[in-house]
Amino acid sequence: MFKQLFGRGSDNHSTGVKPAANGAKKSNGAQPVRSLIHLDEVIKAYETPAGEFLALRGIDLDIDTGEFVAVVGKSGSGKSTLINMITGIDRPSSGEIYVAGTPIHKLAEGPMAEWRGRNVGVIFQFFQLLPMLTCIENVMLPMDFCNMYRSNERRQRAMHLLEQVEMADQADKLPSEVSGGQQQRAAIARALANDPPLLVADEPTGNLDSKTADSVFQLFSNLVDNGKTILMVTHDRELASRVSRTITIADGRIADGEQEQAVLASMDRQPATATSTIDNVAPARAAVVERPEYVKAPEYDGAHG
Ligand SMILES: Nc1ncnc2c1ncn2[C@@H]1O[C@H](COP(=O)(O)OP(=O)(O)O)[C@@H](O)[C@H]1O
Ligand SMILES: [Mg+2]
Repeated sequence: MFKQLFGRGSDNHSTGVKPAANGAKKSNGAQPVRSLIHLDEVIKAYETPAGEFLALRGIDLDIDTGEFVAVVGKSGSGKSTLINMITGIDRPSSGEIYVAGTPIHKLAEGPMAEWRGRNVGVIFQFFQLLPMLTCIENVMLPMDFCNMYRSNERRQRAMHLLEQVEMADQADKLPSEVSGGQQQRAAIARALANDPPLLVADEPTGNLDSKTADSVFQLFSNLVDNGKTILMVTHDRELASRVSRTITIADGRIADGEQEQAVLASMDRQPATATSTIDNVAPARAAVVERPEYVKAPEYDGAHG
């Protein structure tokens, strides 16, 4: 069942990842290498009252289809900025970004939202389900937005996805009526709605207790086993050790050597997951926002780690 829904070429919408037509790595004259995600000298500058601030200082990165990548780094190092570049939620100041061959740094806002809706499932720390819609309606939303699947198939597909994340019995509840872990499961089902090849998650377990975090991680592992590519920001050293690759960000750059070791060592000293979680308390306390973040860029909230 899992394979049927999430596996390659098993649905009426192709899950097979097309090779990146334009996303070739530079390769000294050798045969170009194709990656699902390709970043070339990506720089992101923010204007601040104190002047220009470089959140990303020249990122070169390639991620292949089927990789499960953890992005780690101290708070403020540029992790969210980096993944917002890859989802097209935010734009680079300079440099190039190709995802599945699409030069997303060149897309205008409308085509970008449409592209994202079909190609990337985005998962957030605070779930970002629409509070006035039920769980199943939240899962149907990307299909409606991108006009994917026939309208009379959408509810059934959403229910299948909710079954896969063990949320079928909660389908008709509002987000405020289920726990944080359940909201995140619904958000994962929503991310899978249009069967995108790529899932991008910014601290998806940051607000879950360790047991719930582990089950969300297990869900991600299953998705990778079934052909998805996942890029996940995490502070959880234990989870980061279980993926196929870890990318360490420090001061807007990809760190290696001693700098990388220092970041990883500091993760060891932190609690693996939130000490007070919202999973086991009154579900209504879970944070929600008013609009789908995969449609519009989030406003900057400097308080987030
Ligand atoms: N819109 C913005 N305007 C100004 N500075 C920003 C903006 N967004 C992020 N920053 C700054 O860029 C840096 C990287 O932020 P972020 O990518 O959110 O870090 P992380 O996710 O690793 O905690 C931080 O110093 C943050 O304050
Ligand atoms: Mg962040």
